Amino acid sequence: MIPRVRAPLSTACRCALLRCLVFGLAALAGTSPAQAEDPPHWLSSSINIDCTSQCHVPHQASGGNLTANASNVALCQSCHNPAGLAQDLSINSNDAAVPGVDGYHHGFDVCALNTETGAQPPLDNEMLLRLMGADVPCPQGYAVCSTCHNQHSSDGSLGGTPRVSPAKQTTALGSTGTVTSQGTFNGAESFWYLIEIDGQGSQATATFQWSKDNGTSWMQTGVAAGNGGPVTLADGVEVVFTGGGGAAFLVGERWEFSGSWPFLRAALELAGAGSVMCRDCHREWDLTCPGDGTCPSVTTWNGGSVKSHPVRVAYPVPGTEGFYDDGPREGDGTAQGTGDDGNPTNDLIFDGNSDIECLTCHGVHYADSNTLTLDQP
Ligand code: HEC
Ligand code: HEC
Ligand code: HEC
Ligand code: HEC
Repeated sequence: MIPRVRAPLSTACRCALLRCLVFGLAALAGTSPAQAEDPPHWLSSSINIDCTSQCHVPHQASGGNLTANASNVALCQSCHNPAGLAQDLSINSNDAAVPGVDGYHHGFDVCALNTETGAQPPLDNEMLLRLMGADVPCPQGYAVCSTCHNQHSSDGSLGGTPRVSPAKQTTALGSTGTVTSQGTFNGAESFWYLIEIDGQGSQATATFQWSKDNGTSWMQTGVAAGNGGPVTLADGVEVVFTGGGGAAFLVGERWEFSGSWPFLRAALELAGAGSVMCRDCHREWDLTCPGDGTCPSVTTWNGGSVKSHPVRVAYPVPGTEGFYDDGPREGDGTAQGTGDDGNPTNDLIFDGNSDIECLTCHGVHYADSNTLTLDQP
Protein backbone atom coordinates (compact mmCIF):
# COMPACT_ATOMS: atom_id res chain seq x y z
CA MET A 1 0.00 0.00 0.00
CA ILE A 2 1.05 3.54 -0.68
CA PRO A 3 1.07 5.89 2.28
CA ARG A 4 -1.63 8.52 1.99
CA VAL A 5 -0.25 11.93 2.81
CA ARG A 6 -1.52 15.29 1.90
CA ALA A 7 1.17 17.70 0.69
CA PRO A 8 1.28 17.31 -3.07
CA LEU A 9 4.93 17.68 -4.02
CA SER A 10 6.39 15.83 -1.09
CA THR A 11 3.80 13.11 -1.71
CA ALA A 12 5.28 12.42 -5.09
CA CYS A 13 8.78 12.28 -3.66
CA ARG A 14 8.02 10.30 -0.56
CA CYS A 15 5.80 7.78 -2.26
CA ALA A 16 8.30 7.36 -5.03
CA LEU A 17 11.06 7.01 -2.46
CA LEU A 18 9.17 4.32 -0.66
CA ARG A 19 8.59 2.61 -3.94
CA CYS A 20 12.29 2.90 -4.71
CA LEU A 21 13.01 1.14 -1.43
CA VAL A 22 10.45 -1.55 -2.20
CA PHE A 23 11.86 -1.82 -5.69
CA GLY A 24 15.41 -2.11 -4.40
CA LEU A 25 14.53 -4.64 -1.72
CA ALA A 26 12.59 -6.72 -4.20
CA ALA A 27 15.57 -6.65 -6.53
CA LEU A 28 17.89 -7.66 -3.67
CA ALA A 29 15.60 -10.47 -2.64
CA GLY A 30 15.47 -11.66 -6.22
CA THR A 31 11.70 -11.23 -6.40
CA SER A 32 10.03 -9.47 -9.30
CA PRO A 33 10.23 -5.71 -8.98
CA ALA A 34 7.41 -5.31 -11.48
CA GLN A 35 4.55 -3.02 -10.40
CA ALA A 36 6.70 -1.09 -7.95
CA GLU A 37 4.86 1.73 -9.67
CA ASP A 38 2.11 1.13 -12.17
CA PRO A 39 2.73 1.66 -15.89
CA PRO A 40 2.51 3.90 -17.80
CA HIS A 41 3.69 5.90 -14.76
CA TRP A 42 6.82 3.82 -14.45
CA LEU A 43 9.90 2.95 -16.46
CA SER A 44 9.35 1.44 -19.86
CA SER A 45 12.26 0.21 -21.93
CA SER A 46 12.58 3.69 -23.39
CA ILE A 47 10.77 6.14 -21.08
CA ASN A 48 12.48 7.18 -17.89
CA ILE A 49 9.90 7.69 -15.17
CA ASP A 50 11.47 6.50 -11.97
CA CYS A 51 12.05 7.60 -8.41
CA THR A 52 14.62 10.28 -9.10
CA SER A 53 12.99 11.72 -12.19
CA GLN A 54 9.67 11.71 -10.41
CA CYS A 55 11.10 13.76 -7.56
CA HIS A 56 12.74 16.20 -9.94
CA VAL A 57 9.62 16.81 -11.95
CA PRO A 58 8.25 19.43 -9.54
CA HIS A 59 11.29 21.59 -10.16
CA GLN A 60 10.58 21.77 -13.88
CA ALA A 61 6.90 22.39 -13.26
CA SER A 62 5.18 24.55 -15.80
CA GLY A 63 3.43 26.92 -13.41
CA GLY A 64 6.12 29.35 -12.33
CA ASN A 65 5.30 30.82 -8.89
CA LEU A 66 3.17 27.92 -7.77
CA THR A 67 0.77 28.04 -4.91
CA ALA A 68 0.33 24.83 -2.95
CA ASN A 69 -2.90 24.00 -4.73
CA ALA A 70 -1.57 24.81 -8.17
CA SER A 71 1.42 22.56 -7.82
CA ASN A 72 -0.38 19.25 -8.10
CA VAL A 73 -1.89 20.22 -11.42
CA ALA A 74 1.41 21.67 -12.61
CA LEU A 75 3.21 18.46 -11.67
CA CYS A 76 0.84 16.44 -13.83
CA GLN A 77 1.04 19.00 -16.61
CA SER A 78 4.83 18.89 -16.58
CA CYS A 79 4.39 15.63 -18.54
CA HIS A 80 0.79 15.95 -19.73
CA ASN A 81 1.58 18.86 -22.05
CA PRO A 82 2.01 19.00 -25.84
CA ALA A 83 5.79 18.52 -25.60
CA GLY A 84 5.96 16.32 -22.50
CA LEU A 85 6.43 12.59 -21.92
CA ALA A 86 2.64 12.24 -21.94
CA GLN A 87 2.13 14.50 -24.97
CA ASP A 88 -0.49 12.13 -26.42
CA LEU A 89 -2.61 12.86 -23.34
CA SER A 90 -2.02 16.57 -22.98
CA ILE A 91 -4.31 18.35 -20.51
CA ASN A 92 -4.07 22.13 -20.63
CA SER A 93 -5.53 24.53 -18.12
CA ASN A 94 -7.03 26.72 -20.86
CA ASP A 95 -9.22 23.81 -21.92
CA ALA A 96 -10.74 23.18 -18.47
CA ALA A 97 -14.50 23.67 -18.27
CA VAL A 98 -15.97 26.80 -16.80
CA PRO A 99 -19.63 25.98 -16.06
CA GLY A 100 -21.93 27.68 -18.53
CA VAL A 101 -19.04 29.13 -20.54
CA ASP A 102 -16.81 26.66 -22.36
CA GLY A 103 -14.06 24.08 -21.96
CA TYR A 104 -13.79 20.35 -22.46
CA HIS A 105 -12.03 18.92 -19.41
CA HIS A 106 -13.74 18.50 -16.06
CA GLY A 107 -12.63 21.45 -13.93
CA PHE A 108 -9.41 21.10 -11.91
CA ASP A 109 -7.89 23.58 -9.50
CA VAL A 110 -11.52 24.49 -8.74
CA CYS A 111 -13.05 25.09 -5.33
CA ALA A 112 -14.62 21.84 -4.16
CA LEU A 113 -17.72 23.68 -3.02
CA ASN A 114 -19.70 24.83 -6.03
CA THR A 115 -23.40 25.39 -5.52
CA GLU A 116 -24.07 26.01 -9.22
CA THR A 117 -23.18 22.39 -10.04
CA GLY A 118 -24.25 20.86 -6.72
CA ALA A 119 -20.64 19.99 -5.84
CA GLN A 120 -19.38 19.56 -2.29
CA PRO A 121 -16.21 18.17 -0.75
CA PRO A 122 -16.30 14.40 -1.35
CA LEU A 123 -17.23 11.96 1.41
CA ASP A 124 -14.64 9.45 0.19
CA ASN A 125 -11.76 9.95 2.58
CA GLU A 126 -8.95 9.36 0.08
CA MET A 127 -10.42 11.98 -2.23
CA LEU A 128 -11.19 14.36 0.62
CA LEU A 129 -7.55 14.15 1.80
CA ARG A 130 -6.53 15.47 -1.59
CA LEU A 131 -8.46 18.70 -1.68
CA MET A 132 -5.53 21.07 -1.66
CA GLY A 133 -4.61 24.66 -0.88
CA ALA A 134 -7.58 25.80 1.20
CA ASP A 135 -7.66 29.61 1.33
CA VAL A 136 -10.03 32.40 2.29
CA PRO A 137 -12.23 32.30 -0.84
CA CYS A 138 -12.28 28.49 -0.64
CA PRO A 139 -11.88 27.11 2.89
CA GLN A 140 -12.95 23.66 1.63
CA GLY A 141 -9.85 23.35 -0.57
CA TYR A 142 -9.46 22.87 -4.29
CA ALA A 143 -10.15 19.76 -6.36
CA VAL A 144 -7.01 18.88 -8.31
CA CYS A 145 -5.92 16.01 -10.59
CA SER A 146 -4.98 13.82 -7.62
CA THR A 147 -8.37 14.28 -5.99
CA CYS A 148 -9.78 12.03 -8.70
CA HIS A 149 -6.58 10.23 -9.74
CA ASN A 150 -4.14 8.04 -7.86
CA GLN A 151 -1.16 8.54 -10.14
CA HIS A 152 0.63 5.57 -8.55
CA SER A 153 -1.99 2.89 -8.89
CA SER A 154 -3.82 1.74 -11.97
CA ASP A 155 -6.55 -0.59 -10.79
CA GLY A 156 -9.03 -2.02 -13.26
CA SER A 157 -11.57 -2.81 -10.55
CA LEU A 158 -12.26 0.91 -10.09
CA GLY A 159 -13.68 1.17 -13.60
CA GLY A 160 -13.04 3.70 -16.32
CA THR A 161 -12.19 3.23 -19.97
CA PRO A 162 -9.13 1.03 -20.52
CA ARG A 163 -6.56 2.28 -23.01
CA VAL A 164 -4.09 0.65 -25.39
CA SER A 165 -1.58 3.34 -26.32
CA PRO A 166 -0.26 3.55 -29.89
CA ALA A 167 2.82 1.35 -30.48
CA LYS A 168 6.00 3.40 -30.82
CA GLN A 169 9.20 2.14 -32.39
CA THR A 170 12.01 2.42 -29.86
CA THR A 171 14.78 0.56 -31.74
CA ALA A 172 14.93 1.12 -35.50
CA LEU A 173 17.58 -0.66 -37.56
CA GLY A 174 16.53 0.64 -40.96
CA SER A 175 13.70 -1.66 -41.97
CA THR A 176 10.37 -0.50 -43.40
CA GLY A 177 7.84 -2.58 -41.46
CA THR A 178 5.38 -1.04 -39.01
CA VAL A 179 3.68 -2.34 -35.90
CA THR A 180 0.36 -1.05 -34.61
CA SER A 181 -1.39 -1.89 -31.34
CA GLN A 182 -5.12 -2.39 -30.88
CA GLY A 183 -7.73 -4.26 -28.87
CA THR A 184 -9.59 -3.59 -25.63
CA PHE A 185 -7.31 -3.91 -22.63
CA ASN A 186 -8.79 -6.11 -19.90
CA GLY A 187 -5.87 -6.85 -17.56
CA ALA A 188 -6.42 -6.31 -13.83
CA GLU A 189 -3.56 -3.80 -13.68
CA SER A 190 -1.52 -1.94 -16.29
CA PHE A 191 1.55 -3.05 -18.25
CA TRP A 192 4.09 -1.88 -20.74
CA TYR A 193 4.28 -4.29 -23.68
CA LEU A 194 7.60 -4.63 -25.50
CA ILE A 195 7.76 -6.23 -28.95
CA GLU A 196 11.14 -7.35 -30.34
CA ILE A 197 11.73 -8.98 -33.73
CA ASP A 198 13.53 -12.30 -33.21
CA GLY A 199 13.34 -13.61 -36.78
CA GLN A 200 13.95 -11.42 -39.84
CA GLY A 201 11.34 -11.33 -42.61
CA SER A 202 8.18 -9.81 -44.03
CA GLN A 203 4.81 -9.61 -42.31
CA ALA A 204 4.31 -13.18 -43.55
CA THR A 205 7.63 -14.64 -42.41
CA ALA A 206 9.07 -12.58 -39.54
CA THR A 207 8.78 -13.71 -35.94
CA PHE A 208 8.82 -11.74 -32.69
CA GLN A 209 9.04 -12.09 -28.94
CA TRP A 210 7.17 -9.98 -26.42
CA SER A 211 7.62 -8.93 -22.81
CA LYS A 212 5.57 -7.43 -20.00
CA ASP A 213 8.63 -6.38 -17.97
CA ASN A 214 10.61 -4.29 -20.47
CA GLY A 215 12.55 -7.26 -21.80
CA THR A 216 13.79 -8.78 -18.52
CA SER A 217 11.82 -11.89 -19.42
CA TRP A 218 9.78 -12.89 -22.47
CA MET A 219 6.20 -14.12 -22.42
CA GLN A 220 6.58 -15.89 -25.79
CA THR A 221 9.34 -16.11 -28.39
CA GLY A 222 9.30 -16.98 -32.09
CA VAL A 223 5.69 -15.88 -32.56
CA ALA A 224 4.61 -15.55 -36.21
CA ALA A 225 3.95 -11.94 -37.24
CA GLY A 226 0.52 -12.85 -38.56
CA ASN A 227 0.75 -11.69 -42.18
CA GLY A 228 -1.14 -8.42 -41.67
CA GLY A 229 -3.79 -9.88 -39.37
CA PRO A 230 -4.09 -9.14 -35.65
CA VAL A 231 -1.90 -11.27 -33.35
CA THR A 232 -3.31 -11.58 -29.82
CA LEU A 233 -0.79 -11.12 -27.00
CA ALA A 234 -2.75 -11.20 -23.72
CA ASP A 235 -5.19 -9.06 -21.71
CA GLY A 236 -7.20 -8.28 -24.85
CA VAL A 237 -4.18 -6.63 -26.48
CA GLU A 238 -3.40 -7.25 -30.17
CA VAL A 239 -0.63 -6.18 -32.55
CA VAL A 240 -0.59 -5.94 -36.34
CA PHE A 241 2.62 -6.17 -38.40
CA THR A 242 2.60 -4.54 -41.82
CA GLY A 243 5.41 -4.71 -44.35
CA GLY A 244 6.42 -6.72 -47.43
CA GLY A 245 9.88 -7.90 -48.49
CA GLY A 246 12.40 -10.08 -46.70
CA ALA A 247 13.89 -7.17 -44.74
CA ALA A 248 10.66 -5.46 -43.62
CA PHE A 249 11.44 -6.47 -40.04
CA LEU A 250 15.00 -6.92 -38.73
CA VAL A 251 16.14 -8.84 -35.65
CA GLY A 252 16.45 -6.55 -32.63
CA GLU A 253 13.93 -3.92 -33.73
CA ARG A 254 11.58 -2.94 -30.92
CA TRP A 255 8.23 -1.29 -30.38
CA GLU A 256 6.48 -0.57 -27.11
CA PHE A 257 3.08 0.54 -25.85
CA SER A 258 1.01 0.34 -22.69
CA GLY A 259 -2.30 -1.22 -21.78
CA SER A 260 -3.73 0.65 -18.82
CA TRP A 261 -6.54 1.89 -16.61
CA PRO A 262 -7.00 5.61 -15.85
CA PHE A 263 -5.38 5.72 -12.38
CA LEU A 264 -8.62 6.39 -10.53
CA ARG A 265 -8.66 7.39 -6.87
CA ALA A 266 -12.15 6.00 -6.22
CA ALA A 267 -14.52 3.73 -8.06
CA LEU A 268 -16.74 4.99 -10.79
CA GLU A 269 -20.25 3.55 -10.72
CA LEU A 270 -19.99 -0.19 -10.40
CA ALA A 271 -22.44 -2.97 -9.87
CA GLY A 272 -23.17 -3.22 -6.16
CA ALA A 273 -21.28 -1.25 -3.56
CA GLY A 274 -18.29 1.00 -3.83
CA SER A 275 -17.76 4.68 -3.73
CA VAL A 276 -19.19 6.54 -6.62
CA MET A 277 -16.95 9.28 -7.81
CA CYS A 278 -19.28 11.66 -9.65
CA ARG A 279 -22.22 11.37 -7.28
CA ASP A 280 -19.94 11.75 -4.30
CA CYS A 281 -19.05 15.38 -5.00
CA HIS A 282 -22.20 16.23 -6.97
CA ARG A 283 -24.45 14.68 -4.32
CA GLU A 284 -26.67 17.77 -4.11
CA TRP A 285 -27.85 16.92 -7.59
CA ASP A 286 -28.19 13.22 -7.01
CA LEU A 287 -31.67 11.92 -7.65
CA THR A 288 -30.87 8.51 -6.19
CA CYS A 289 -31.96 7.69 -2.64
CA PRO A 290 -29.24 7.54 -0.03
CA GLY A 291 -28.37 3.94 0.78
CA ASP A 292 -29.14 2.57 -2.65
CA GLY A 293 -32.19 0.30 -2.74
CA THR A 294 -33.78 1.60 0.45
CA CYS A 295 -36.35 3.79 -1.31
CA PRO A 296 -39.36 2.55 -3.20
CA SER A 297 -38.70 4.95 -6.03
CA VAL A 298 -35.28 6.32 -6.85
CA THR A 299 -36.51 8.82 -9.36
CA THR A 300 -38.68 11.14 -7.30
CA TRP A 301 -37.63 14.74 -7.57
CA ASN A 302 -37.83 16.47 -4.22
CA GLY A 303 -39.27 19.52 -5.90
CA GLY A 304 -36.70 21.93 -4.55
CA SER A 305 -33.33 22.38 -6.16
CA VAL A 306 -31.77 21.34 -9.44
CA LYS A 307 -31.24 17.60 -9.80
CA SER A 308 -29.41 15.50 -12.34
CA HIS A 309 -31.12 13.18 -14.75
CA PRO A 310 -31.85 10.01 -12.72
CA VAL A 311 -28.94 7.61 -12.43
CA ARG A 312 -28.61 4.10 -11.06
CA VAL A 313 -31.83 3.15 -12.80
CA ALA A 314 -31.92 0.46 -15.45
CA TYR A 315 -32.20 1.46 -19.08
CA PRO A 316 -35.26 -0.49 -20.21
CA VAL A 317 -34.83 -3.17 -22.82
CA PRO A 318 -35.88 -1.56 -26.11
CA GLY A 319 -39.45 -2.47 -26.96
CA THR A 320 -40.61 -2.93 -23.38
CA GLU A 321 -41.71 0.63 -22.71
CA GLY A 322 -43.28 2.88 -25.32
CA PHE A 323 -40.91 5.78 -25.55
CA TYR A 324 -37.77 3.69 -25.18
CA ASP A 325 -38.76 1.53 -28.13
CA ASP A 326 -35.80 2.40 -30.28
CA GLY A 327 -32.96 2.18 -27.77
CA PRO A 328 -29.99 4.51 -27.92
CA ARG A 329 -28.92 5.90 -31.27
CA GLU A 330 -25.63 6.73 -32.89
CA GLY A 331 -24.87 10.27 -33.96
CA ASP A 332 -25.91 9.38 -37.51
CA GLY A 333 -29.32 8.14 -36.38
CA THR A 334 -28.67 4.40 -36.68
CA ALA A 335 -29.29 2.15 -33.68
CA GLN A 336 -26.37 1.99 -31.28
CA GLY A 337 -24.85 -1.47 -31.22
CA THR A 338 -26.13 -2.64 -34.59
CA GLY A 339 -25.38 0.53 -36.49
CA ASP A 340 -21.97 2.10 -36.14
CA ASP A 341 -21.11 5.67 -37.00
CA GLY A 342 -17.45 4.93 -36.30
CA ASN A 343 -17.42 7.10 -33.20
CA PRO A 344 -17.16 5.14 -29.94
CA THR A 345 -17.06 8.36 -27.90
CA ASN A 346 -20.72 9.22 -28.53
CA ASP A 347 -22.05 5.84 -27.41
CA LEU A 348 -24.32 5.83 -24.38
CA ILE A 349 -22.57 3.48 -21.98
CA PHE A 350 -24.21 1.77 -19.03
CA ASP A 351 -22.67 0.31 -15.90
CA GLY A 352 -22.30 -3.36 -14.94
CA ASN A 353 -25.99 -3.47 -13.95
CA SER A 354 -27.08 -1.92 -17.29
CA ASP A 355 -27.97 1.17 -15.27
CA ILE A 356 -27.79 4.77 -16.44
CA GLU A 357 -24.92 6.64 -14.79
CA CYS A 358 -23.41 10.09 -14.99
CA LEU A 359 -20.88 8.78 -17.53
CA THR A 360 -23.69 7.44 -19.72
CA CYS A 361 -24.08 11.02 -20.90
CA HIS A 362 -21.01 12.88 -19.66
CA GLY A 363 -17.35 12.66 -20.56
CA VAL A 364 -14.57 13.83 -18.26
CA HIS A 365 -11.68 14.85 -20.52
CA TYR A 366 -11.63 15.88 -24.20
CA ALA A 367 -15.46 15.97 -24.03
CA ASP A 368 -16.26 18.41 -26.83
CA SER A 369 -20.06 18.14 -26.35
CA ASN A 370 -20.59 17.43 -30.05
CA THR A 371 -22.11 14.05 -30.90
CA LEU A 372 -20.77 14.16 -34.44
CA THR A 373 -17.10 14.50 -33.57
CA LEU A 374 -14.65 12.10 -31.93
CA ASP A 375 -13.66 13.11 -28.39
CA GLN A 376 -9.89 12.82 -28.38
CA PRO A 377 -6.79 14.72 -27.31
C1 HEC B 1 6.95 11.93 -15.42
C2 HEC B 1 5.90 12.16 -16.40
C3 HEC B 1 4.47 12.10 -15.92
C4 HEC B 1 3.91 12.80 -14.87
C5 HEC B 1 4.57 13.79 -13.93
C6 HEC B 1 2.51 12.44 -14.85
N1 HEC B 1 2.24 11.55 -15.85
FE1 HEC B 1 0.44 10.69 -16.25
N2 HEC B 1 1.24 9.68 -17.82
C7 HEC B 1 2.56 9.75 -18.23
C8 HEC B 1 2.76 8.93 -19.41
C9 HEC B 1 4.07 8.75 -20.17
C10 HEC B 1 1.51 8.37 -19.70
C11 HEC B 1 1.18 7.46 -20.88
C12 HEC B 1 0.98 8.34 -22.09
C13 HEC B 1 0.72 7.58 -23.36
O1 HEC B 1 0.31 6.42 -23.28
O2 HEC B 1 0.89 8.17 -24.43
C14 HEC B 1 0.59 8.85 -18.68
C15 HEC B 1 -0.75 8.49 -18.63
C16 HEC B 1 -1.64 8.94 -17.64
C17 HEC B 1 -3.02 8.56 -17.55
C18 HEC B 1 -3.77 7.66 -18.52
C19 HEC B 1 -3.79 6.24 -18.13
C20 HEC B 1 -4.81 5.51 -18.98
O3 HEC B 1 -4.46 4.44 -19.47
O4 HEC B 1 -5.93 5.99 -19.16
C21 HEC B 1 -3.56 9.22 -16.47
C22 HEC B 1 -4.96 9.13 -15.96
C23 HEC B 1 -2.51 10.02 -15.90
N3 HEC B 1 -1.35 9.81 -16.63
C24 HEC B 1 -2.69 10.87 -14.83
C25 HEC B 1 -1.68 11.65 -14.28
C26 HEC B 1 -1.86 12.51 -13.14
C27 HEC B 1 -3.16 12.71 -12.41
C28 HEC B 1 -0.66 13.09 -12.88
C29 HEC B 1 -0.29 14.04 -11.75
C30 HEC B 1 -0.59 13.59 -10.41
C31 HEC B 1 0.28 12.59 -13.86
N4 HEC B 1 -0.38 11.73 -14.69
C32 HEC B 1 1.61 12.94 -13.94
C33 HEC B 1 3.56 10.49 -17.64
C34 HEC B 1 3.40 11.32 -16.54
C1 HEC C 1 -13.81 16.25 -6.31
C2 HEC C 1 -15.22 16.56 -6.53
C3 HEC C 1 -15.79 16.29 -7.88
C4 HEC C 1 -15.87 15.09 -8.53
C5 HEC C 1 -15.34 13.76 -8.07
C6 HEC C 1 -16.61 15.33 -9.75
N1 HEC C 1 -16.92 16.65 -9.84
FE1 HEC C 1 -17.86 17.53 -11.39
N2 HEC C 1 -17.52 19.36 -10.59
C7 HEC C 1 -16.96 19.58 -9.36
C8 HEC C 1 -16.83 21.01 -9.15
C9 HEC C 1 -16.25 21.67 -7.91
C10 HEC C 1 -17.33 21.64 -10.31
C11 HEC C 1 -17.39 23.14 -10.60
C12 HEC C 1 -16.19 23.48 -11.44
C13 HEC C 1 -15.86 24.95 -11.51
O1 HEC C 1 -16.00 25.64 -10.50
O2 HEC C 1 -15.45 25.40 -12.60
C14 HEC C 1 -17.76 20.57 -11.19
C15 HEC C 1 -18.32 20.77 -12.45
C16 HEC C 1 -18.88 19.75 -13.23
C17 HEC C 1 -19.61 19.95 -14.46
C18 HEC C 1 -19.88 21.26 -15.14
C19 HEC C 1 -18.83 21.44 -16.24
C20 HEC C 1 -19.21 22.43 -17.29
O3 HEC C 1 -18.82 22.23 -18.45
O4 HEC C 1 -19.89 23.39 -17.03
C21 HEC C 1 -20.00 18.72 -14.90
C22 HEC C 1 -20.81 18.41 -16.14
C23 HEC C 1 -19.50 17.75 -13.97
N3 HEC C 1 -18.82 18.41 -12.96
C24 HEC C 1 -19.66 16.38 -14.08
C25 HEC C 1 -18.97 15.45 -13.32
C26 HEC C 1 -18.87 14.03 -13.64
C27 HEC C 1 -19.54 13.36 -14.81
C28 HEC C 1 -18.10 13.47 -12.68
C29 HEC C 1 -17.67 12.02 -12.56
C30 HEC C 1 -16.65 11.60 -13.53
C31 HEC C 1 -17.70 14.53 -11.76
N4 HEC C 1 -18.24 15.70 -12.20
C32 HEC C 1 -16.90 14.34 -10.66
C33 HEC C 1 -16.56 18.63 -8.45
C34 HEC C 1 -16.44 17.27 -8.73
C1 HEC D 1 -13.33 15.31 -11.29
C2 HEC D 1 -12.41 14.23 -11.38
C3 HEC D 1 -11.20 14.38 -12.27
C4 HEC D 1 -10.28 15.39 -12.30
C5 HEC D 1 -10.25 16.66 -11.45
C6 HEC D 1 -9.28 15.02 -13.28
N1 HEC D 1 -9.61 13.82 -13.85
FE1 HEC D 1 -8.54 12.81 -15.25
N2 HEC D 1 -10.04 11.42 -15.40
C7 HEC D 1 -11.11 11.34 -14.53
C8 HEC D 1 -11.88 10.16 -14.86
C9 HEC D 1 -13.15 9.69 -14.16
C10 HEC D 1 -11.24 9.56 -15.97
C11 HEC D 1 -11.66 8.28 -16.69
C12 HEC D 1 -12.71 8.55 -17.71
C13 HEC D 1 -13.09 7.28 -18.41
O1 HEC D 1 -12.43 6.27 -18.20
O2 HEC D 1 -14.05 7.29 -19.19
C14 HEC D 1 -10.07 10.38 -16.27
C15 HEC D 1 -9.16 10.11 -17.31
C16 HEC D 1 -7.93 10.77 -17.45
C17 HEC D 1 -6.95 10.50 -18.46
C18 HEC D 1 -7.11 9.47 -19.58
C19 HEC D 1 -7.83 10.12 -20.73
C20 HEC D 1 -7.96 9.24 -21.94
O3 HEC D 1 -8.62 9.71 -22.90
O4 HEC D 1 -7.45 8.12 -21.98
C21 HEC D 1 -5.90 11.34 -18.23
C22 HEC D 1 -4.61 11.42 -19.02
C23 HEC D 1 -6.24 12.15 -17.09
N3 HEC D 1 -7.49 11.80 -16.65
C24 HEC D 1 -5.38 13.09 -16.52
C25 HEC D 1 -5.81 14.08 -15.65
C26 HEC D 1 -5.00 15.23 -15.27
C27 HEC D 1 -3.58 15.46 -15.70
C28 HEC D 1 -5.79 16.01 -14.46
C29 HEC D 1 -5.47 17.37 -13.88
C30 HEC D 1 -4.94 18.35 -14.84
C31 HEC D 1 -7.08 15.32 -14.32
N4 HEC D 1 -7.03 14.17 -15.06
C32 HEC D 1 -8.15 15.77 -13.57
C33 HEC D 1 -11.43 12.21 -13.52
C34 HEC D 1 -10.77 13.39 -13.26
C1 HEC E 1 -29.38 11.41 -19.59
C2 HEC E 1 -28.12 12.09 -19.75
C3 HEC E 1 -27.46 12.66 -18.50
C4 HEC E 1 -27.20 12.03 -17.30
C5 HEC E 1 -27.50 10.59 -16.92
C6 HEC E 1 -26.52 13.00 -16.47
N1 HEC E 1 -26.41 14.19 -17.14
FE1 HEC E 1 -25.57 15.89 -16.41
N2 HEC E 1 -26.13 16.90 -18.07
C7 HEC E 1 -26.66 16.32 -19.21
C8 HEC E 1 -26.86 17.36 -20.21
C9 HEC E 1 -27.44 17.14 -21.63
C10 HEC E 1 -26.42 18.57 -19.63
C11 HEC E 1 -26.44 19.97 -20.25
C12 HEC E 1 -27.77 20.58 -19.95
C13 HEC E 1 -27.74 22.06 -19.87
O1 HEC E 1 -26.67 22.64 -20.00
O2 HEC E 1 -28.81 22.62 -19.64
C14 HEC E 1 -25.99 18.26 -18.29
C15 HEC E 1 -25.49 19.17 -17.39
C16 HEC E 1 -24.86 18.86 -16.17
C17 HEC E 1 -24.23 19.78 -15.28
C18 HEC E 1 -24.27 21.29 -15.39
C19 HEC E 1 -23.30 21.88 -16.30
C20 HEC E 1 -23.38 23.38 -16.28
O3 HEC E 1 -22.56 23.98 -16.97
O4 HEC E 1 -24.22 23.96 -15.57
C21 HEC E 1 -23.70 19.07 -14.24
C22 HEC E 1 -22.94 19.59 -13.05
C23 HEC E 1 -24.04 17.70 -14.48
N3 HEC E 1 -24.75 17.60 -15.65
C24 HEC E 1 -23.69 16.67 -13.64
C25 HEC E 1 -24.20 15.39 -13.74
C26 HEC E 1 -23.97 14.35 -12.77
C27 HEC E 1 -23.11 14.49 -11.53
C28 HEC E 1 -24.64 13.24 -13.19
C29 HEC E 1 -24.78 11.92 -12.45
C30 HEC E 1 -25.37 12.03 -11.12
C31 HEC E 1 -25.30 13.58 -14.44
N4 HEC E 1 -25.00 14.89 -14.75
C32 HEC E 1 -26.09 12.72 -15.18
C33 HEC E 1 -26.98 14.99 -19.37
C34 HEC E 1 -26.95 14.04 -18.38
